Amino acid sequence: MKVLIYGAGMVGEQIYRNIKDTHEVIGFLDSNPEKKGRAVEGIKILGGPEALSGIEYDRIYIASTFWKEIKKALSSAGVDDDKMIVDIPEDVDSPVRNTFLECYAKLFAGTDLAVAEGGVFRGEFASKINRCFPGSKLYLFDTFEGFDSRDIKIEKMNDFSNPEIGNFSNTSVELVMSKMAHPENVEIHKGYFPETAEGVDDTFCFVNLDFDLYHPILEGLRFFYPKMVRGSVVLVHDYYHAGLKGVKEAIDDYEKEIGGKLIKLPIGDNQSIALVKE
Ligand SMILES: C[S@@+](CC[C@H](N)C(=O)[O-])C[C@H]1O[C@@H](n2cnc3c(N)ncnc32)[C@H](O)[C@@H]1O
Repeated sequence: MKVLIYGAGMVGEQIYRNIKDTHEVIGFLDSNPEKKGRAVEGIKILGGPEALSGIEYDRIYIASTFWKEIKKALSSAGVDDDKMIVDIPEDVDSPVRNTFLECYAKLFAGTDLAVAEGGVFRGEFASKINRCFPGSKLYLFDTFEGFDSRDIKIEKMNDFSNPEIGNFSNTSVELVMSKMAHPENVEIHKGYFPETAEGVDDTFCFVNLDFDLYHPILEGLRFFYPKMVRGSVVLVHDYYHAGLKGVKEAIDDYEKEIGGKLIKLPIGDNQSIALVKE
């Protein structure tokens, strides 16, 4: 079966790895014009829906959390519904980010400084933080019920992204805790961030901000950055995500607030930026 994968990002790469032995993947599609002509795992990125004319294919796998918008765009380009397969793995993993975390944690071996994640979802990365920092208290912040309408309103008003109520609601505290190697170190803060951070007063050596949205990312920087030890990292996921513009905006606005540039290092996963505390 000849297939195309729509979404030349981490999700697309993961789907490619899942199906490449049973399907002939003839190309990737992506609406980001900057990606056109590049390749993922040696497979060419052909462009957006306009690239479909003249191509023979049996199925298009839609590999993006923006699958509804993509389905609409493909329908408008004349693609039949039964040719589209929405297949988003629940837990998207990045080997590069995992290696970064493992190597970074070695710099703090034996530490009892705290670590945290803002935006936990099903606890995939949180469980890795927990394993890599066995002596650290791990604070986890999430609604565990998906995006909050207050944040969604800000996204839509500013055209940062197009999230919906219900995105990321398929999780629970129990599920996340079941993945932890050192559950005794974990403190869950369930509810709306930053409200759930009230009363937390600790010093941190690693924080992963993966809220996806402008307001909680900005609040996460305001809350955590001053509490980081010198040389430690606030890792912000989705900095390079063209569909989540609020993430970069939040960092830009935080820089304006503090009146200076943060030290920024890309970690090589094409998604995250490491903010190094001065
Ligand atoms: C992309 S997911 C996190 C993925 C996760 N880091 C992983 O390893 O799979 C984003 C999460 O942030 C949560 N979130 C977004 N805004 C929030 C807010 N203001 N307060 C609490 N949680 C929030 C969402 O509910 C969602 O679970």
